[in-house]
Amino acid sequence: MTLRLSVIGTGYLGATHAACMAELGYEVIGVDIDPAKVEILQSGRVPFYEPGLPEVLARNIAAGRLRFTTSMSEAAATADIHFICVGTPQQSGANAADLSQVFGSIQALTPHLRAGALVVGKSTVPVGTAAVLAEQLALTAPTAEVAWNPEFLREGFAVADTLHPDRLVVGVRSQRAEDLLREVYAPLIAQDVPFLVTDFPTAELVKVAANSFLATKISFINAMAEVCEAAGADITQLAEAIGYDPRIGNRFLAAGLGFGGGCLPKDIRAFMARAGEIGAEEALAFLREVDQINLRQRTHTVNLARAALDGSFAGKNVTVLGAAFKPDSDDVRDSPALAVAAAILNAGGNVVVHDPKALENAARVYPTLTYVEDLAQALADAELVLHLTEWPEYREFDPTTLGSSPRQRHLIDARNRLDPLVWRASGWTYRALGRPTA
Ligand code: UDX
Repeated sequence: MTLRLSVIGTGYLGATHAACMAELGYEVIGVDIDPAKVEILQSGRVPFYEPGLPEVLARNIAAGRLRFTTSMSEAAATADIHFICVGTPQQSGANAADLSQVFGSIQALTPHLRAGALVVGKSTVPVGTAAVLAEQLALTAPTAEVAWNPEFLREGFAVADTLHPDRLVVGVRSQRAEDLLREVYAPLIAQDVPFLVTDFPTAELVKVAANSFLATKISFINAMAEVCEAAGADITQLAEAIGYDPRIGNRFLAAGLGFGGGCLPKDIRAFMARAGEIGAEEALAFLREVDQINLRQRTHTVNLARAALDGSFAGKNVTVLGAAFKPDSDDVRDSPALAVAAAILNAGGNVVVHDPKALENAARVYPTLTYVEDLAQALADAELVLHLTEWPEYREFDPTTLGSSPRQRHLIDARNRLDPLVWRASGWTYRALGRPTA
């Protein structure tokens, strides 16, 4: 019999998980409290930019395997396995995660659960959450069970990461829960994707440990960039050279403006907060430094920009290339690029922001910035250009098409991806983070 699954929460994680589980052949129902989102998804469209997802979604809706609803009772009645994919944002004014969506969605689901249902958490949660949920469920739906199955997908590669993950991790308390999840993921296990079975706290910790490692790797290379700048060395050559050591590896060693987005920044903060609660605060003290190094790249970039404009932004035309927190995404949550743009605007600059996909989301968060859709137009009057999100089209852009300018024009490449020779040959000054000035 075909497995019937529900996916609760249809953001980046949930919409992708729902579509990809249907792609594996299951009957899937996606649930969200936002009727507008449900309507868009049900019509076969994706309410955010994620390459490849619209095709998978539309194909599976058309095949009748995938649908979306706002009704939790409908979802509960039609499925035996429920994936919790709601957000766990940072609490305002604190480092800890806000778990209200996790607890709220499970509370709404519980009264409608069928006997023997399996509730599988995928959201990133503080260690210990699964055990609390299991206790609650034991009181209200005694035949139902909890499992934890963290998600490692990257935005921009969400479909590939879901259908071809590096590994699957399931935290379970029974053989039955393990067997059910083995059944769900059988097509992936058949492709030799490693399947790791753990207890609840280990599964919860795997996710935050992985994100902490990635954040640390980025902040490490950015700390090296600071040293390179002080010593007159070149961070891109240093990163390439250390990356050849397979114990270090060359991925996630791109120095620049640092990490942002809906995961790494808030996950390392929530991890520190939780470690404090369980008496392991000292063990994660280094993550505070990782966070500080990361945020310092933003202030450093603003300072370099100010220096390029002779010490003041007042009345100067500054163009910011990139608004999304990384290329191939329209996500602007904790976007380093927008943080820099807003700081320069507040300091009196005339800031124009360009991004191929994220302008609508950016305008919602920072309505006072000026957004321009056409790249050449965005660059036309710039005295200073800041390259803050490395979309491929910025690297491909030919600066000679801008013609010659009567005044000196400056470029700061905060992602170390543009070609200094090309820009300098077109009359621009070129500065990057962690590289010699000339
Ligand atoms: C991350 C994790 O990679 C993923 O496994 C987890 O499930 C969710 O969090 P994501 O937030 O989509 O995924 O972004 P990621 O590709 O990891 O990039 C995070 C940030 O780090 C971006 O702002 C990116 O620009 C920055 N970054 C990445 C660097 O500054 N340098 C690098 O070398 C790599």
